[in-house]
Amino acid sequence: MNNYSRYEINNSDPLEKKRYIRSMFDSIVPTYDLLNRILSLGIDNLWRRDLVKIAGLKNKIVLDLCCGTGDLTRQIIKSNGKVISLDFSFNMLKKGKDRGWLTGENLSADACALPFKNSVFDFLTIAFGIRNIPDIDIFLAESLRVLKPDGKLLILELTRPDNILVRFFYNLYLGKILPFIGGIISGKDEAYSYLAGSISTFLEREMLIQRIKNSGFTEVSYKKKTFGIATIYICKK
Ligand SMILES: C[S@@+](CC[C@H](N)C(=O)[O-])C[C@H]1O[C@@H](n2cnc3c(N)ncnc32)[C@H](O)[C@@H]1O
Repeated sequence: MNNYSRYEINNSDPLEKKRYIRSMFDSIVPTYDLLNRILSLGIDNLWRRDLVKIAGLKNKIVLDLCCGTGDLTRQIIKSNGKVISLDFSFNMLKKGKDRGWLTGENLSADACALPFKNSVFDFLTIAFGIRNIPDIDIFLAESLRVLKPDGKLLILELTRPDNILVRFFYNLYLGKILPFIGGIISGKDEAYSYLAGSISTFLEREMLIQRIKNSGFTEVSYKKKTFGIATIYICKK
């Protein structure tokens, strides 16, 4: 069995999967931001910027989940949002603070057990994090709980393109190029095989939307980015 299937989203042991994922992210921190830029040719930041623009986060109270080193957090701060950042990897948070990207309040916790009271945030954001969460229904229930009554959950996630030709080249990229470049630069082959696998085995767009609706969100809209390689989901409480 390869790493792709071993750590797919329906893993029956969420705690074990989370331990694996946390230590994996802890281990790839030194080259994480550099590789993001190389592997996405810088497009990932345009997607983050778009999410912030779509939402209009100015003066809103935002919780940035799975914040990593703070690539999205810093965009929210630039747009004058008031943000708290959360991630369960200490190394990611430390790197973000050292880089000056996580300048506000930040904490280490599991996105499925949020240490906040009910109905406190205008927005929750999560960029490239949800596909790493095995107990997704618990995550969605927690998100609903901490959002204000008219609050929104904004998800930016990698998705699979619809066009067959684009999909063919994208699969080639995921299967061969991403693990190769990621492995060489980070020295962590398994981590980048996992990341590629987590993209190709994560829920299809429509299935994720159904899960979000089933969890109690009243409205879900979405915007495809770059041939559908990424999607921004806007989920209203
Ligand atoms: C691919 S990174 C994305 C980081 C950042 N949002 C960005 O845009 O670059 C995913 C992050 O999610 C964090 N993560 C994964 N599962 C988590 C969970 N259950 N609770 C908290 N953080 C989690 C990882 O530690 C990692 O930093």
